[in-house]
Amino acid sequence: MMKLCQILLVCLVYSSALSDVPYKELYFEQTVDHFNPLSYGEKKFKQRYLLQDQWFDVVDRGPILFYTGNELPITTFWNNTGFMFDIAPQFGALVVFAEHRFYGKSLPFGDDSFKGNNIGLLTIEQALADYSLLINSIKQRYNAGKSAVITFGGSYGGMLSAYMRFKYPNLVDGAIAASAPMYLLSNVIDPSQFFVRVTADFKQSNTNCSANIRKAFNIMDGMAKSGDTGLNMLSEKFMLCSKLNETGYNHMVRWITNAFVSLAMFNYPYPTNFLSGLPAFPVNKSCGFMVNTDDLLKGLAQITAMFYNGTNGKLPCFDIWEEYVECADPSGCGLGPDSIAWDIQACSEIRMLFTTDGVQDMFLPIDYTAKMRNDYCKSKYGLVPRDKWASLNLWGFDVSPGSNILFSNGFKDPWAFAGVLHDLGPNLTSIIIHNGAHQLDLRGHNVNDPPDVIKARNLEISTIRQWINAVFPIKLR
Ligand SMILES: *[C@@H]1O[C@H](CO)[C@@H](O)[C@H](O)[C@H]1NC(C)=O
Ligand SMILES: *[C@@H]1O[C@H](CO)[C@@H](O)[C@H](O)[C@H]1NC(C)=O
Ligand SMILES: *[C@@H]1O[C@H](CO)[C@@H](O)[C@H](O)[C@H]1NC(C)=O
Ligand SMILES: *[C@@H]1O[C@H](CO)[C@@H](O)[C@H](O)[C@H]1NC(C)=O
Ligand SMILES: *[C@@H]1O[C@H](CO)[C@@H](O)[C@H](O)[C@H]1NC(C)=O
Ligand SMILES: *[C@@H]1O[C@H](CO)[C@@H](O)[C@H](O)[C@H]1NC(C)=O
Repeated sequence: MMKLCQILLVCLVYSSALSDVPYKELYFEQTVDHFNPLSYGEKKFKQRYLLQDQWFDVVDRGPILFYTGNELPITTFWNNTGFMFDIAPQFGALVVFAEHRFYGKSLPFGDDSFKGNNIGLLTIEQALADYSLLINSIKQRYNAGKSAVITFGGSYGGMLSAYMRFKYPNLVDGAIAASAPMYLLSNVIDPSQFFVRVTADFKQSNTNCSANIRKAFNIMDGMAKSGDTGLNMLSEKFMLCSKLNETGYNHMVRWITNAFVSLAMFNYPYPTNFLSGLPAFPVNKSCGFMVNTDDLLKGLAQITAMFYNGTNGKLPCFDIWEEYVECADPSGCGLGPDSIAWDIQACSEIRMLFTTDGVQDMFLPIDYTAKMRNDYCKSKYGLVPRDKWASLNLWGFDVSPGSNILFSNGFKDPWAFAGVLHDLGPNLTSIIIHNGAHQLDLRGHNVNDPPDVIKARNLEISTIRQWINAVFPIKLR
């Protein structure tokens, strides 16, 4: 073990910084409906995937490292999952990133994808079936039938990575599920804890920070409720492009809240560009605006601006309707067509009924109930959430029958409240990265990485090595 770790450390140190790794952009003729043979017959759509085979050692049966794409264009994940490129050379691996149906360029019905009954084909089960056929086809094309397959994913992608091992152990030999809120599909979690966790990150930076943010929200609310003068002052203070009315104010509250969620999730120790350009430790930076100031509202506006304008921002003013889309997921659905797709998933299989109360957390109280979600989903998409089915089909709280899955959780990530935080068996283990934000371990190595993420990655590497060795003894490079 000691020796192996030494070897691995050396491997990590000597692999070059692989940022901007090039890829081949490919399209797979994917089956539209895997489960009803009479609905669309042989109809196919073009599913996008990205591939890099420069390290692939087919002679020694190098493994396939397969990223199970989630709710954004797959190129975003390619750009933010450098860990896979860091380890591909030492494994002689083929690297594949597959785009999730209904996201990015993988639209089964093109511009009509979100119309009528077409949205019924946006299910986790269909997405997993897509990945299974793609893996099979790549194995055939590369004559790599005996290669081990390891799936990777972060967040919802981490859930998919684990589900691939649940559902297709014939194809997938092991899964890395990073910052995956697996227990969202169970009834054991307390949905108030998501925003409590966001609050905790700001409190940890400075005890006055979260308290002052709570005060700022209350000052803002008082102003908004005082009528047009107050609303106009807020529009100016937050540099909005157009004047607020009451509806606009309610949207603005969620727009600001969303900025806090993202700052907590992407609280990385170096500047990043995931959804927006952020400085190192953006939570800490935010708290700089909130302590030692006598204008708390200005601080709140500065924090919000930091997220939406980004480090290289060019926005003259903020258009809250452009920058934030309200949906069935109170942590945000993203933007553009991807936000519709995620809204549909939040309306069908992934339950996110997060509430705020302004006491446990620092936000304005919003009591988001199942009834509110159900009414919204029914009227917007004709969908009735299938909580019970999703929980049975995807194992809910009962993850323990699985094997060869490693759940890693950044403890500073708000999503950790629904993560697997304990080992569930010898081959079903959990890693806590105490100083990690959302899926930090999946990012490429960086000189500013905290020691606990380096340790987590080393454990991931040795676990992957075990999984691969169980299939075929791998060559040490
Ligand atoms: C990914 O990174 C490349 C190179 O830095 C950049 O050109 C591209 O816009 C990025 N794509 C996304 C979706 O972030
Ligand atoms: C919090 O604020 C109080 C009152 O303004 C101040 O005395 C105290 O030093 C602050 N604490 C921190 C950690 O900044
Ligand atoms: C409030 O403002 C929004 C956006 O500017 C506008 O679309 C909406 O019609 C307004 N609502 C009322 C009641 O004036
Ligand atoms: C956070 O900010 C405080 C002061 O605002 C500073 O002392 C501390 O070192 C910062 N922490 C990090 C991790 O940057
Ligand atoms: C966005 O950032 C730019 C450059 O830092 C700045 O000039 C501009 O005022 C900012 N916009 C807003 C709305 O804060
Ligand atoms: C765990 O995985 C190892 C290596 O694949 C295997 O030898 C062992 O039997 C597994 N243990 C259990 C309890 O499944």
